[in-house]
Amino acid sequence: MAVITERFQAKVAILALGLILALLSNFMAEATSRRGLGEGDSGVFDVTSYGAKADGKADDAMAFVKAWVAACKSGGSAKLSIPTGTYMAGPVVFQGPCKGFMTVEVQGTIKATTDISDYSSPEWFSFEHIDGLIVNGGGTFDGQGAAVWKYNDCKDSSDCQLLPSSIKFMAVKNAIVHEITSLNSKSFHTHLVNCDNFTAHDLTITAPGDSPNTDGMHISRSNLVSVSNSQIGTGDDCVSIGQGATQVSIQNIVCGPGHGISVGSLGKYKDEEDVSGISVTGCTLKGTTNGVRIKTWPGSPPSKASSIAFEDITMDSVKNPIIIDQNYGSSKKEPSQVKISNVRYTNIKGTSISPMAVSILCSSEAPCTGIEMTDIDLQFMGKSSKSDTVSSSCSNAKITFGGKQNPPACDV
Ligand SMILES: *[C@@H]1O[C@H](CO)[C@@H](O)[C@H](O)[C@H]1NC(C)=O
Repeated sequence: MAVITERFQAKVAILALGLILALLSNFMAEATSRRGLGEGDSGVFDVTSYGAKADGKADDAMAFVKAWVAACKSGGSAKLSIPTGTYMAGPVVFQGPCKGFMTVEVQGTIKATTDISDYSSPEWFSFEHIDGLIVNGGGTFDGQGAAVWKYNDCKDSSDCQLLPSSIKFMAVKNAIVHEITSLNSKSFHTHLVNCDNFTAHDLTITAPGDSPNTDGMHISRSNLVSVSNSQIGTGDDCVSIGQGATQVSIQNIVCGPGHGISVGSLGKYKDEEDVSGISVTGCTLKGTTNGVRIKTWPGSPPSKASSIAFEDITMDSVKNPIIIDQNYGSSKKEPSQVKISNVRYTNIKGTSISPMAVSILCSSEAPCTGIEMTDIDLQFMGKSSKSDTVSSSCSNAKITFGGKQNPPACDV
């Protein structure tokens, strides 16, 4: 009896010890996983904890991606932090969908690698399939484009291979990008495709005036996009609004150098989607080749661009302040079939460096309709010219005029 009791007690003690050990190890595992998840500060994923060197030499792309994957999978709101310092990185894909709202805070400067054979797909940072994203932090994406611009042959070939864009947003929804600098991209600085509800403000986008295809922001197949309060100077369009862009608002942009703010080019490819609901307001163009422009390719498949408003625009030494060019990149002779309608120009003033300040050259196949020009006041500010007045030129367009017209309204 006594022996049995002792054995029984020993068994109970062992069981109890086992239970305590199991609970303890469970508790420790949970504590460890919690520490791993948040790096001590719940929800913050610092790239330097994932191997980023920030020495300006080692390729930190893999560390960025590892930190992103951890953040994206974590659940709840997660912040990927790229702290101050100089990073070097090849191509980076930030892939969703994620379990929660994502913030990417860039405080450092990230420099792109310059060997273009690193880039199997033409973008450097690619944000893909994300619903709920903030990108901010005051940091810089430096595309180091000067090393590769010489490989751009788009001047000679219309189906040239584009160099990588610096920051692409592909199928990104409910996003805000602000206080970010993009410097010297290899081609587009920022590129939106299939985005919905995308707000960008307080961006600084800079590249030399002679750098090829360095559009500040290119927007296509996206809905509800707002870009405001930004400084954009590049070698191409400050903002270009491509096919399938709807409900796009461009506000309070200072643009220059560059090719201006453009809708287009449209009609280059088959099956392009229509463009509608575009407003460009309160912008200043400084020393750009174009001011506000709509451009379509000749011989294009049919599509539409409608409900476009340009309002309260200041031109400062712009070559073609107001221009519709339906014969853009004119290698073909057939007229464009992109139908442009309901375009309002309101309160557009400032200076033109060419005498032809207004040029509305629409397609004979699909004439422009519903063009309204109200309070246009452009002064000629040429260097050496025979005339000191501005004029306008219009063809294949139905235009109504209101308020002041300088240049004088063209005959339509
Ligand atoms: C747009 O996205 C922002 C940021 O995620 C969000 O706060 C806002 O509610 C969204 N708006 C709409 C109309 O979905």
